[in-house]
Amino acid sequence: MDMPLKQRSIFITGIAGFIGFHLAMFLKKRGDYVMGCDNFNPYYSVILKKERASQLKQEGIEVISCSIETPQFLNTLLNKHPFTHFVHLAAQAGVRYSIEHPMAYSDSNLVGFLHVLEECRHHQPMKLIFASSSSVYGSNKKIPFQESDSTDQPISLYAATKKAGELMAKSYHHLYHIPIVGLRYFTVYGPWGRPDMAYFHFSKMLLKKKPITFFNWGEMERDFTYIDDIVEGTAAALDFEGSFEIFNLGNHKSENLKTLITLLEKYLGNKAKINFKPMQKGDVIKTYADISKAAKFLSFKPKTSLEKGLKHFTDWVLMHKSAFLIDF
Ligand SMILES: NC(=O)c1ccc[n+]([C@@H]2O[C@H](COP(=O)([O-])OP(=O)(O)OC[C@H]3O[C@@H](n4cnc5c(N)ncnc54)[C@H](O)[C@@H]3O)[C@@H](O)[C@H]2O)c1
Repeated sequence: MDMPLKQRSIFITGIAGFIGFHLAMFLKKRGDYVMGCDNFNPYYSVILKKERASQLKQEGIEVISCSIETPQFLNTLLNKHPFTHFVHLAAQAGVRYSIEHPMAYSDSNLVGFLHVLEECRHHQPMKLIFASSSSVYGSNKKIPFQESDSTDQPISLYAATKKAGELMAKSYHHLYHIPIVGLRYFTVYGPWGRPDMAYFHFSKMLLKKKPITFFNWGEMERDFTYIDDIVEGTAAALDFEGSFEIFNLGNHKSENLKTLITLLEKYLGNKAKINFKPMQKGDVIKTYADISKAAKFLSFKPKTSLEKGLKHFTDWVLMHKSAFLIDF
């Protein structure tokens, strides 16, 4: 492997995931050296993850198949290659899944993250950027959510493991002076997205003319953030010269799920049949990001409205309609 000395060399965990895929493409295009790993777990379509990985490989990005909770592999790799930045995105995501599969969250989000921190500790200098989540705000009533708000009332195991990750990172920064940035992402959406997320699932149901379930009688609001904006914010975090910070990355606009459906109906051309149900355990009613800290330190300025972002997403859906309906 040839790696020019002055170039930023970045290792990404979860590179075949939704955000990892887009981030890797972006960094490679701007001239960074990029490599990453993914364990291709079957939480959602492995075909989709493999398709993302194959596109990354076509761009010359190496994708290694390995789990972060079996660290020997990472250790050998980092001993061999002088990475300057480590972006940790691999995680067991999803709020509802954590109710049925709690151990997956401890394996990836706790044990796996601890191994990542250990690798960063033993391969300094190394800057670490890791993905946290808006879910750490739990049922925070203060709107919009600010980084300084209380995050000690998680209402799902996923949220608890993400908060635990922030605390583990803080302790490693304190003990070993690793420069670390944690990013609290708010409902990220876009092409090549995650089939378990509402906008993706609703689109599938619309195309199949099947009913859609709205929880909390449809009274849910999310700060939907387009993938390109998230990638720009994450890339800015790589360049940030701080010692330890947590930033919200959101769109700073909370949208009702009914708005989401209306736009999807318009772009996909079918009318939704909606079943209304009560609130599900672990879900929050509303998310809304205060992004003034990220604006100040990362020059973060999301540019994509939900209307524009969903148009890009549904264009992608229609272009890959058969794979979208059968494989993804
Ligand atoms: N997408 C969102 O809306 C959102 C919101 C908040 C936070 N996040 C966080 O951002 C990160 C990336 O999210 P995403 O949407 O790209 O999710 P994703 O599930 O598409 O990507 C995660 C990738 O990590 C891989 N992975 C999981 N456990 C692993 C392990 N133990 N070892 C190696 N690989 C493993 C998975 O196979 C997957 O490809 C996650 O940490 C997630 O919790 C995402």
